[in-house]
Amino acid sequence: MKNRQLNPNWVAAVLIGFTLLIVAILPVSIRIETNTSTADSPTVVEYTLKTVLGQTPPMAYIGVGGTIDGVINPDLTANVGDTVRITVINGDPVLHDMMIDEFNAHSGHLDKQDQEGVTEFVANRPGEFVYYCSTPAHREVGMQGKLVITGEAPSGEYVAADQSPSVALQPTTAPADPNAVSIVRNPADVPPPVGDREPMTVRVDLTAVEVVGQLADGATFSYFTFDRTVPGPMLRVRVGDSVELHLKNDTTSLFPHSIDLHSVTGPGGGAVYTQTNPGAETMFTFKGLNPGLYVYHCATPSVAHHIANGMYGLILVEPEGGLPPVDKEFYMMQGEIYTAQPFGTAGHLDFSHAKMLDEDPEYFVFNGASMALTTDEYALRANVGDTVRIFFGVGGPNATSSFHVIGEIFDRVYDQASLTASPLTDVQTTLVPPGGATMVEFALEVPGRYILVDHALARLERGLAGYLYAEGADAPDIFHSEGEASSAGH
Ligand code: CU
Ligand code: CU
Repeated sequence: MKNRQLNPNWVAAVLIGFTLLIVAILPVSIRIETNTSTADSPTVVEYTLKTVLGQTPPMAYIGVGGTIDGVINPDLTANVGDTVRITVINGDPVLHDMMIDEFNAHSGHLDKQDQEGVTEFVANRPGEFVYYCSTPAHREVGMQGKLVITGEAPSGEYVAADQSPSVALQPTTAPADPNAVSIVRNPADVPPPVGDREPMTVRVDLTAVEVVGQLADGATFSYFTFDRTVPGPMLRVRVGDSVELHLKNDTTSLFPHSIDLHSVTGPGGGAVYTQTNPGAETMFTFKGLNPGLYVYHCATPSVAHHIANGMYGLILVEPEGGLPPVDKEFYMMQGEIYTAQPFGTAGHLDFSHAKMLDEDPEYFVFNGASMALTTDEYALRANVGDTVRIFFGVGGPNATSSFHVIGEIFDRVYDQASLTASPLTDVQTTLVPPGGATMVEFALEVPGRYILVDHALARLERGLAGYLYAEGADAPDIFHSEGEASSAGH
């Protein structure tokens, strides 16, 4: 706050400095004007790229016309100062685009077959730049290439001004979608036993639907589903059955989808013949040769992305004569959700491919949503005296489950979901790998609330728990306390 008076010598010096600066700049300005008025009009470099699916890599751009014709993810070249114009044609009805971050170049979002987008920019600096599709996972499975710009960087502020980072890359959280629906599959939603019948042909219809669903309180997420729930419907056939499987991809979908059933003996478990574009339908048949409880899932690249977003289910192939009868059957599957935002964030959460590759999920879920099976609507319910069977599978895509029921012991574990080996008996916790399943059975002797968990219990705090209520008379000879039940300590 001292010496605020202007020194007249300094004022004079600054004025002289400005004058010198203007004199120095003037000739440069004139030179630029002269240049632009010559006959050398700027060169326009034009490229056309078309999206292509099902090649190697599974999603890519292919050059159309000129030197890049037919080349997958071609190198595009230009000289400094050129105007670059890139036309992108959607070769399929899947959501794509093309971006080059450094030039803020974007084709616009394309989701119709043959839809075109154009982006144009000035190649104002030399270097190697990446063009890519910004649809989740598309870049990672192959939709990217190089733009190589050669020449000298022009000096001055012209380049510096354009080097601002792209704001489009900053993570933001949209508000939770008010139209989000429940995607939770009710664990009581189990088809009736096949029982003792002859093999037959069974037709199965499944539809891949992309649904904005409720992930947690105040949080929504864009799920991929079979028939609008996670997991998809449980399928139930018997060994020797021929299954005619029809897969539709809903017209509202932005991604292709497919199905690989682990009960299939044949290429890709069916995935090779069911890569299905939005609005299309595919079909194949298979014979159930091996009894067992099998995972099915979408197998469209990035496969882990489609699984993480909810595309998995179980198919039970009953052995000849069927399974022994029980009182209650339930259907549960475990999965991981990889959101860009931390666990507990409110809003519409985005999928993070990077977290998926790091196997670092924010949420763990039974039947699709955080704590879903602890709610009154979706909790498992049985009576004291019942025998309970749980068909349990892990969609994953990455984490192995240590499946456990707090306060119960599995009387029988059909380890690895093998229905032909003798079951293990008297088991506390059983391992279920991604793409694997188990069938567990136990009797309910004592009333109360039993908590279903993965005994990697940190996951409980990331949304992974379910309740099984057993109603009925006390059994003091088995379990008895004079104290009051606490909600803590399970
Ligand atoms: Cu794409
Ligand atoms: Cu899919």
